[in-house]
Amino acid sequence: MKQNRRFLVRFPIIICLFTCGLLYSLSQLIERSFEEFSIQQNISELNSVIHSIESEITYFYPIDNREEFLQNLLIILARHQRLFVYIIDDTGKVIYRTRGPILTIAQSQINLDQIMQDHTSTIWETSRSSYRIAASKLVIDDKHQFTTIVAINRDLQLEFIKRLHDGLRLLIILSCIIALLATLTTIYFTQKPINLLIKKIEKINWKNLNSRISTTSVPPKYASLVKAFNNMLHRMEDTFRRQQNFTADIAHEMRTPITNLTTQTEIALNSARTTNEYREILYSNLEEYSRLSQMITDMLFLAQADNKQLIPNLIMIDLHQFMIDFIDYFEPLSEEKNITIKLLGDCKPIQGDRNMISRAVSNILSNAIRHTPINGQITIELDQLSANWVKIVIANPGKKIDEFHLDHLFDRFYRVDESRQRNGEGAGIGLAIVKTIIEAHKGLIYVLSDEHHTRFIIELPTNIQNIGTKETK
Ligand SMILES: Nc1ncnc2c1ncn2[C@@H]1O[C@H](COP(=O)(O)OP(=O)(O)OP(=O)(O)O)[C@@H](O)[C@H]1O
Ligand SMILES: [Mg+2]
Repeated sequence: MKQNRRFLVRFPIIICLFTCGLLYSLSQLIERSFEEFSIQQNISELNSVIHSIESEITYFYPIDNREEFLQNLLIILARHQRLFVYIIDDTGKVIYRTRGPILTIAQSQINLDQIMQDHTSTIWETSRSSYRIAASKLVIDDKHQFTTIVAINRDLQLEFIKRLHDGLRLLIILSCIIALLATLTTIYFTQKPINLLIKKIEKINWKNLNSRISTTSVPPKYASLVKAFNNMLHRMEDTFRRQQNFTADIAHEMRTPITNLTTQTEIALNSARTTNEYREILYSNLEEYSRLSQMITDMLFLAQADNKQLIPNLIMIDLHQFMIDFIDYFEPLSEEKNITIKLLGDCKPIQGDRNMISRAVSNILSNAIRHTPINGQITIELDQLSANWVKIVIANPGKKIDEFHLDHLFDRFYRVDESRQRNGEGAGIGLAIVKTIIEAHKGLIYVLSDEHHTRFIIELPTNIQNIGTKETK
């Protein structure tokens, strides 16, 4: 949470710094380009004037018609503002000069000879103004030379550049402030519903797992997130409730045999009994002990599965032969109700843990015998679903199991008829164990029930190692 907040503060600052950096680079680019452009413009203006003046000097040389010469110079200079010219002959006499700065002073401050030699220009600063200055030497007839010094005032340009610079800086600062405020505001308004949501979520604990967050209390874009969260809460509540029920159920299931044992022992101790009576009581107690023992074994088995410690000891099982043996084993029990068990179909041998598969089939068969009416027929059908999958269907006649119960049949301690609990018939963990075993074999189990039959369908891979787990239907 803290990290999240730190990021949310840093993020707009980073964005602002980035925007500032970007704008600063852009402003530098604009200023540089303008400066470059001004310099080029000044240089070309100076060169063009020098060139025009030298053409005039050459034309009028030896400058007898001074009036016309000056007139032409004026025409040339009229096209240029803030431009100052000095023309000096080889004797040092100033032939022509414009009003304004005395350019000959520049000669003592800057190396004009070097400029003339390199055909470049330079900056000349006086106490009041700044100029770009250029000079050229014209030699006529190898005897007479004329030096033309031209300077252009840069004050206006410099003023413009300064304003541009200040304007751009102001723009950068304003843009950054606006960007910072806009980002912070956006983050605040985006984060507000999330913060509210976080507060609501933080209030949820194991005591109020049934509370749900209303999807209308958050902006529509978070509705699906809230829905997913509510679904997760529902699943957690369900698991938590089942876990709570599971503990209560274990206690309840264990209390019945222990109460029976206590009562019987108390009765036995109340008065003197014959050996036969004691023997009967002990037999009855033995039954309760085996019930308790079976229940503890089942619980340990499920706990092992929960801790992923249930590792099948794989061998190849011929399911057809396996079922024949099973039917023989169950014959005494089925004969009590005159129930026949019929085996149909065949399939490839499968890889499996013989004890576990026996336990699963035994649980289903004992349920089937319990729920089949007298003289009924149970069928076990084997089928080869595909090259790597087999199907076992155990069907028994009987009442239809309601859809609602079908979804919970494999839950621990779930019984369709709770009243049977009082008759001490079953704890309701048989099918939970079956499901655990089938899943340990990477198979799936489901149940179908209609008006006439209930069918438990098991699908198993023939080779566990080569197959991923199938979802339970
Ligand atoms: N073949 C069946 N026909 C109808 N109902 C069945 C059948 N098999 C199971 N049931 C229902 O499913 C419930 C759960 O079965 P499960 O085997 O888990 O528990 P149980 O048989 O009651 O007890 P336990 O197996 O622990 O001794 C049973 O209470 C029963 O109502
Ligand atoms: Mg059972």
